[in-house]
Amino acid sequence: MKQIQGIIKSNYKIADHIYLMTIKAPEICKTARPGNFILISLGTTYDPLLRRPMSISNVKGDHLCILYQVVGRGTARMSQFKVDDEVNLIGPLGNGFNTDNSGSSLLIGGGIGVAPLIFLYEGLLKKGRQARFIVGMKANELDDILAGFSNDIEIARENSPNDGPKLVTDLLAPILKENKIDNIYCCGPEQMYVAIKRICADYTDIFIQISLDRHMACGVGACMGCVVPVRKKGRKESVNLRACVEGPIFDLEEVILDA
Ligand code: FES
Repeated sequence: MKQIQGIIKSNYKIADHIYLMTIKAPEICKTARPGNFILISLGTTYDPLLRRPMSISNVKGDHLCILYQVVGRGTARMSQFKVDDEVNLIGPLGNGFNTDNSGSSLLIGGGIGVAPLIFLYEGLLKKGRQARFIVGMKANELDDILAGFSNDIEIARENSPNDGPKLVTDLLAPILKENKIDNIYCCGPEQMYVAIKRICADYTDIFIQISLDRHMACGVGACMGCVVPVRKKGRKESVNLRACVEGPIFDLEEVILDA
């Protein structure tokens, strides 16, 4: 983990409320892994005070790519950063996805949750691993960014007419029936994880990891503001783990989700 000054190299809108930023940050790029995040400072005025956690959506040489959605004052401030602005960063943070298992992988992204999976997908393909990527979105808001790095992504759209898949989980059941999947990696809303857990209940040998989005204050393990209830395998009692240190990636079977 390092605190550094990054330099904004691009920052532009790709769809309604969705932006792609690239930041020159060689020190962070050297050790970043898929599933890691950075804390990004919003300026020197202390308003908003807290740094924002942002998933690393890709690394291209010395540059971090950050795909983000404007949802409040912090991300609105980020959308105003200009090329050549300096920005204070801490990272890479968090545990990252566990890709030690061999076999085929399925990546499942819900909306802006595709962000960390882009980095993971490219990493798996570079290692020669078999990976498939399915995404759910409202309409076509992420088409440009997804087409930019792969044509092999299957998409479910909420506005799909008639019998087309509307949710990413509509794509999941037939894939599991027709293919041998060894690993599943997901990032999206919590209700998507609940649905995935239900659909995968009969496939107990699949290793499934999820990226959990939690409000973070310190981002480095000090405030306990981001805890996630987890029941470790073979244990009756649950423990609270910090999404910013022990996460944000967790095994789906261990996380106690709000059903
Ligand atoms: Fe403070 Fe995780 S945000 S402990």
